[in-house]
Amino acid sequence: MTNETNQETCCSKCRRPWCITIFGLLIISFLIAMPFIAGTPDAEKSSDTIRFLGRFHPVILHLPIGIFSLIIIQELMSMFSRYKPQPGLIAIFIGAASAVVAVLFGFMLYMGGGYEMSKLLGDHLWGGIIFACAAVLTLIVKAWPLPEKVSQKLYRAMIFGSVGIMTYASHGGASITHGEDYLVEYAPNPIRKVLGHEPKVDPADIPVKPLEEQIAYEDIVQPILNKRCVECHKEGKSKGKFRMDSYELLLKGGKEGDAVVPGDAVKSNIIYRCELPEDDDEHMPPESKTDIEDHELAVIKWWISAGADPAKTVAQLEITDEIRGAIAKLDRSIDPKAGKSEVPTQAKQDLPSAELLKSVAALSKEFPGGLTFESQASSKLTFTGVSLRSNLNDAVFAKLKSVIPSMVSMDLSSTAITDSSVKLLASAKDLRMIRLSETKISDAALDTLVGLKNLESINLYGTRVSDAGVEKLKSLPHLKHLYLWQTDVSAGMIEKLKAALPGVEIVTGI
Ligand code: HEC
Repeated sequence: MTNETNQETCCSKCRRPWCITIFGLLIISFLIAMPFIAGTPDAEKSSDTIRFLGRFHPVILHLPIGIFSLIIIQELMSMFSRYKPQPGLIAIFIGAASAVVAVLFGFMLYMGGGYEMSKLLGDHLWGGIIFACAAVLTLIVKAWPLPEKVSQKLYRAMIFGSVGIMTYASHGGASITHGEDYLVEYAPNPIRKVLGHEPKVDPADIPVKPLEEQIAYEDIVQPILNKRCVECHKEGKSKGKFRMDSYELLLKGGKEGDAVVPGDAVKSNIIYRCELPEDDDEHMPPESKTDIEDHELAVIKWWISAGADPAKTVAQLEITDEIRGAIAKLDRSIDPKAGKSEVPTQAKQDLPSAELLKSVAALSKEFPGGLTFESQASSKLTFTGVSLRSNLNDAVFAKLKSVIPSMVSMDLSSTAITDSSVKLLASAKDLRMIRLSETKISDAALDTLVGLKNLESINLYGTRVSDAGVEKLKSLPHLKHLYLWQTDVSAGMIEKLKAALPGVEIVTGI
């Protein structure tokens, strides 16, 4: 840099800015040749000085960004306002010089090891180099005493071009450090769409798969690795030449190999590294990061010991109550929104028994998608027979008998069930919601329902229930919604119910 300052004094002496031009072109040639001369980084060969300087890349890069932002603001002002500020040569000089230094340090960071060439990194590297070259060219253009008209147009094009490339290069750098989704992670869906990202789905809207149906690797293990490890072990940033962002790469391992030894958690390097004492240099994740939690590690160990299979579901692996507890705990820690979940803490600890899990797994084949746990860590079930419609008759419904006591919500609308199926519900003491609309049930069914004291919502739309039956529902203590549209219930009875149940919403369609 000192050289360049000398050159500038020299130039002002000779009045023709040849020195800046020649020196600038030399720098540009060097920057462009640099990646070709240096070859691929070798962490072992690179010196500590290179590593030391490389770490300053994230610090110094803000200088050219700040200076060029200021220059562009001045330029916009001189275009659109009466006030015409002119950025001096010195501002552009410092901007260009700091851009060159930032690129050199960035290249040293890359040469120091830990980053693997990828499209993202390549784009960032070349984006940075082209930006620094454009910045130096802008300085050269500004230094020459060209005719006013030519000089202004050329300079303006250069400055806007440079800032455009700078924006692109900085975004690439941020994506490498924080992940490509960083900027739009919390963006509203319309903005995500414009920027070409998938719309975001609220975790609360994703139906929770019953634990037994979850794929151990994909649904349980990989999310833990994503949270604790992948930021340093992924494309473009594979520390120890080890990537953990896919099953194949995880099993392939890094320099030390044997990252995962199927069936043997103790011999697996990822477990070994995590179990080292925290002050050990080799402990993973490194000291600067939040440590992996015991229950998370227990789940990974369980999966490796069970054979580290990529596709097996929990039901296909042997599982103890302890691991089941550890998995239930994950729900909260993995999903950042889980803290806001409406599932009360008590329900979280309310784990399904092995027997119930087995029945549910077996019944899932009979009623695909019909039977789900209320939440990942709940032993309560919801059922919908809507997709089966008239195929769901009393005989089919009877197969659910063993799981009925666990039901909290049932949708039997438009199915072929009758009063005799409803009789089976007598054991569903926790049932809160039931839809029986457009079924063949009659008043007799309501005799069963009055026994289910937790019912909050009953839908009887389009059934042949009548005054005598619904009057009994008055005794349900938690009832909030009652749908009686298109039934045989008389207007007089509706009035009576409304008077007797002031807090209940009675929907009659009138
Ligand atoms: C903050 C960055 C960072 C995080 C987070 C991180 N690691 Fe590492 N990891 C490194 C670095 C740096 C190395 C290379 C130095 C070394 O071998 O200790 C490494 C190396 C490794 C290696 C050795 C690879 C080989 O074969 O050479 C394993 C195994 C490993 N990490 C596992 C993990 C696991 C498991 C996690 C998550 C629980 C994790 N790491 C999280 C930075 C990280």
